[in-house]
Amino acid sequence: MRTKVAIIGAGPSGLLLSQLLNLAGIETVVLERKSRDYVLSRIRAGVLEWTTVQLLRAAGVGDRMDREGMVHDGCYLSSNNNMFRVDFHEACGKQVMVYGQTEVTRDLYDAQEALGATVIHDAEDVALHDLESDAPWVSYTIGGVPQRLDCDYVAGCDGFHGVSRPTIPEGVRREYEKVYPFGWLGILSRTPPVAEELIYAAHDRGFALASMRNPMLSRYYIQVPLTDRVEDWSDEAFWAELKLRLPEEACKSLITGPSIEKSIAPLRSFVTEPMRWGRLFLVGDAAHIVPPTGAKGLNLAASDVFYLSQGFKDFYGAGDAAGLEGYSQKALARIWKAMRFSWSMTTMMHRFPEHNAYERRMQDTEMAVLETSDTARKWMAENYTGLPY
Ligand code: APR
Ligand code: PHB
Repeated sequence: MRTKVAIIGAGPSGLLLSQLLNLAGIETVVLERKSRDYVLSRIRAGVLEWTTVQLLRAAGVGDRMDREGMVHDGCYLSSNNNMFRVDFHEACGKQVMVYGQTEVTRDLYDAQEALGATVIHDAEDVALHDLESDAPWVSYTIGGVPQRLDCDYVAGCDGFHGVSRPTIPEGVRREYEKVYPFGWLGILSRTPPVAEELIYAAHDRGFALASMRNPMLSRYYIQVPLTDRVEDWSDEAFWAELKLRLPEEACKSLITGPSIEKSIAPLRSFVTEPMRWGRLFLVGDAAHIVPPTGAKGLNLAASDVFYLSQGFKDFYGAGDAAGLEGYSQKALARIWKAMRFSWSMTTMMHRFPEHNAYERRMQDTEMAVLETSDTARKWMAENYTGLPY
């Protein structure tokens, strides 16, 4: 089989890239290790920057998002029971869309099917070859039977644990990493959200977040030590701890119920450079991971896809390779700014075992600055709603 762009991974990065390229008449083949059902069972974050909203619309997958998604003009922050609101619209004229990443992925699958794009599931043993030549190719197996895909370029959209990034030789790759000494325990429950907007709560007992998927589906998180296991946390224990950390004002209207999903995710900041090696481009989680506090994971994947799809369009449409040449530098400039935002939100709002009394006071003071300074809120709003492409 032969195609122009071989895309490894059918997460949001791979499917959105494939969608934009197919719309531009550029042929792709997506190779995914898991089944479609498995991909669609993963629960991820749910806040879309406005640039992501516009990109999804341009990709022809905005209809259901515009119908079912919830536009939020702001969010609440709370510091030890003192809650205040950051009005994004007032601070920077922008807003976000609350719409689950799983739904984005489902819409992309449907759109890919409607376009007749090729998405191959259960592709095992994917390996990338001759990436420094002008004839790269991908080997893989389906049910144990070897397959070969020849292509012009490979887009590594295969997430943090994929094969693409390790294919870049160690001497070429530079990796930057910070692992945080805690995780987020998250639950999904069929209950109405506690507030009409998200609440990010810093508390002496640890961070908590009240989020949502729709008016009858809530998503809540609490910071937990990395040694905790999901089995250690009954639903009752989770709700009790959440109530201690969320501001009292909000807790009055907290409706609890059985969890329909419960998991612990570690927090990490990670960037690999460069994002291009020969004919391989890294996209999304394959190249970078942010802690979830800034809600940037999917949004950074979207901006990578935007830059790369523009590069391919210029190359195949007008023979102009400048966009592809500049992809890594352009994508990384935006990624590092989102890294900084996610790191600063995480550092300001979580309890770190190693922090002393001075560092604790600095955290509280940063929250107080956000509460009282229009400039600080503008900075937060600009970053949260998304820096321009
Ligand atoms: N071969 C084929 N597919 C693979 C391989 C492999 N060796 N390794 C991983 N994959 C697939 C995974 O099964 C997954 O479906 O690549 C896909 C990667 O998807 P994501 O992990 O969702 O990464 P990405 O598409 O970059 O999404 C970025 O989604 O994961 C969240 O937090 C992340 O919000 C961010 C956004
Ligand atoms: C979520 O709804 O899962 C969510 C929202 C905002 C975040 C992280 C996760 O910052």
